[in-house]
Amino acid sequence: MPHNYYSGEKAEIKIDGQVYELPIIVGTEGEKAIDVRTLRAKTGHIAFDPGYANTGSCNSNITYLDGERGILSYRGYDIADLAENCTFVEVAYLLDHGTLPTREELSEFSRMLNDFAMIHEDMIRFFDSYPPKSPPMAILSSMVNSLCNFYPEMTENPLENIDKMSARLISKVRTIAAFSYKKSMGHPVVYPRYDLSYCANFLNMMFDSPVKPYEINHKVVAALNKLLILHGDHEQNCSTSTVRMVGSARVNLYASVSAGISALWGPLHGGANQAVMEMLENIHQHGGDFRKYVERAKDPNDPFRLAGFGHRVYKTHDPRSRIIKQACDDVLDDLKFADPLLDIAKELEEVALKDEYFVERNLYPNVDFYSGIIYRAIGIPTSMFTVMFALGRLPGWIAHWKEMWDDPGWRISRPRQIYVGPLSRPFIPMDQR
Ligand code: SDX
Repeated sequence: MPHNYYSGEKAEIKIDGQVYELPIIVGTEGEKAIDVRTLRAKTGHIAFDPGYANTGSCNSNITYLDGERGILSYRGYDIADLAENCTFVEVAYLLDHGTLPTREELSEFSRMLNDFAMIHEDMIRFFDSYPPKSPPMAILSSMVNSLCNFYPEMTENPLENIDKMSARLISKVRTIAAFSYKKSMGHPVVYPRYDLSYCANFLNMMFDSPVKPYEINHKVVAALNKLLILHGDHEQNCSTSTVRMVGSARVNLYASVSAGISALWGPLHGGANQAVMEMLENIHQHGGDFRKYVERAKDPNDPFRLAGFGHRVYKTHDPRSRIIKQACDDVLDDLKFADPLLDIAKELEEVALKDEYFVERNLYPNVDFYSGIIYRAIGIPTSMFTVMFALGRLPGWIAHWKEMWDDPGWRISRPRQIYVGPLSRPFIPMDQR
């Protein structure tokens, strides 16, 4: 667990003429925070920060994110290096163990992923009970929570089994995602294969069929590895904070991740990749005129926001978006897949980045703006895009849940509030209301 690095500096707050000192802590990358853990005891006041834009919830040694400079690293390794040189399984190991795996460690981790790839046959029957148009994220969240019923031993002594639990979850969520797609198509599920890598297995489970064997394209496998790596973790985003919040009550990993999946579903969060594609498809169907969407996004009276644009932390280009944008060109060239939506997305980005409204507010394309173009080229349906985000984010959720459980200073997360409701008033009996 990282140590609080007290800088020796103090922040002073003056209230009713009295000065209070609060210590300042500084992280390994120089980020500074005012430690307000004694604020209420000393001053009787709490800090107020709806949306937590100015609040650090924890120390963490997993991911570093610099929103001003557009920097993102996992365990100290720059995201561009990882996306270029690793497989998703390597990065999942890095996020969960803190170090890049040796050849032997990677081989052992891959073996575990293969051993855990099946889901209980009774779970497969769950799919038959979901209505045909069930949202894939609703299925994923409930199926992941159901894993607690099939693997109760994983909830009794979690940290003793954490490696098994992580591998089981990372492997089974991939199988559940592919099975839910097959079921939604009315097709027979395709079982995982021991001889295939993580991403190749997923693609095979998604697209192989008894009448037309799926031909694994290694460029597509490489593109999927890159996409999942880029979604691996992103410090205290909404869904990761949800996993920590739920897990802080000593809830098991599967139920905590199930809650994270629900948070990711939101169109302001992981659901944005699906919203981007629906927006681009809409623009395409209406002759490609995207300027109307830009104007709507700028209209303070219109709730519409440009999907895939803006970010709570990045106030410059999201480094992931730049890598994915480049990968779009590479994958579409490899697959000889010309997608008019990519051209629309590029034009939209170019116009928005020159528009004062977006420039003034530091609104740039985020991770969701281009990712759907690649998923679509691979053949993944738009309805599954946020599920793909969850597949990528899973190692990050697990790493944060484990980091919290390992923290000797761990407490249940329970924010306070400022009450602005009615003052005390006498009870009114029913016949006088
Ligand atoms: C992800 O947190 C993470 O790390 C998330 C993520 C991860 O990896 O986990 O990076 C993944 O969730 C990326 C974000 C995906 N969501 C979207 O693309 C949805 C569209 N984006 C917005 O809804 C918005 O930008 C958020 C939700 C991403 C951020 O919201 P904030 O930080 O609360 O920003 P804000 O609402 O305070 O906006 C500031 C201003 C406002 O205008 P004013 O009131 O100052 O006039 O910018 C405007 C907003 O109206 N604005 C937008 C906009 N995003 C912000 N205007 C038009 N279109 C947009 N997309």
